[in-house]
Amino acid sequence: MFPKNGWYAAIWSKDLASEPVGRTFLGEAVVLFRGANGQAAALEDRCCHRAAPLSLGAVEGDHLRCGYHGLIFDAKGQCVAVPGQDMVPSSARVRAYPVVERYNVVWIWMGDPARADDSKIVEMPWLSDQGWTLTPSYLRIAANAQLLIDNLLDYTHVAHLHKNTISGDPREATTPTKTERLNDGVRVGRWMIDFKPPPLFAKAGGFDGNVDRWQHATWRPPSIVYMDVGAARTGTGAPEGDRTHGISIWSTHLVTPETETTCHYHFGFARNFQLDDQAMSKLLHEGTVTTFLEDKAMLEAQQKNLKGGAIDGLIHIAADAAQIQARRMLDELVRAEAH
Ligand code: FES
Ligand SMILES: [Fe+2]
Repeated sequence: MFPKNGWYAAIWSKDLASEPVGRTFLGEAVVLFRGANGQAAALEDRCCHRAAPLSLGAVEGDHLRCGYHGLIFDAKGQCVAVPGQDMVPSSARVRAYPVVERYNVVWIWMGDPARADDSKIVEMPWLSDQGWTLTPSYLRIAANAQLLIDNLLDYTHVAHLHKNTISGDPREATTPTKTERLNDGVRVGRWMIDFKPPPLFAKAGGFDGNVDRWQHATWRPPSIVYMDVGAARTGTGAPEGDRTHGISIWSTHLVTPETETTCHYHFGFARNFQLDDQAMSKLLHEGTVTTFLEDKAMLEAQQKNLKGGAIDGLIHIAADAAQIQARRMLDELVRAEAH
């Protein structure tokens, strides 16, 4: 359902330290590690000697040592030492995956290494630029990645599922969205003028009255959704472009399929206000985790009623336009890859 040729978020940079990390991406077991030189690397998580998971091993200098009989591998997957013998069999190697570290994320390419072009990593400068503070989080979700992407492109669920967190005004339930197909993605969004702010935004922005609120989500294939969201005191000109009386957030969602029925979910809010304010970071971090745990519970319950990410035989409503477009575009990519 997902193309192999694409950059996927493997792990937040901060979560890859001196210990190797085993994770499955698109059904393949991978070990991620960071050598002493600081370089992130990704290998097949299966030793070529007796198939032990290399993620049970240890980083030594720039190499990874298998935890079973101690074979040592370099970042390209070549075995460089076998304990107790001088010769290293030339066939002693494991598959290496291209990785690139950018925007505080380690990106992995699961497809043809010759096609791994890092200029194709979706541009999200707010994840690492100086003018923004990011509060990154991670959840593993027992649901197909497509169900999570559907969820992120659908603002109608917010008024129902998140009524205690990021929903503030009952009119959100019926405010229509506008969907646009881009060359390389799908965008959906809306403005809500003179609405009651949700509790999290009211706290973060210090709003005591109504706000003009915006939500614009962009899906970029294969599985990134970023949202330009925020709120400003109502009537201060935000819809015309003056955001100085409010708060702006890039709500960022990096979805990586793990199996047909599970996915990795890296998410975070990047904000351009109160950059060094720890209390604000805590508020936004806890607010996002609480909110997305509500999604996680629903997605996992939904998955139990479905096969993979298929929605055949279900009905669609007008608000599904963006997810339908994204599913179509993704299908085209998967079909093109098969040829
Ligand atoms: S299984 Fe890895 S060294 Fe034997
Ligand atoms: Fe949600």
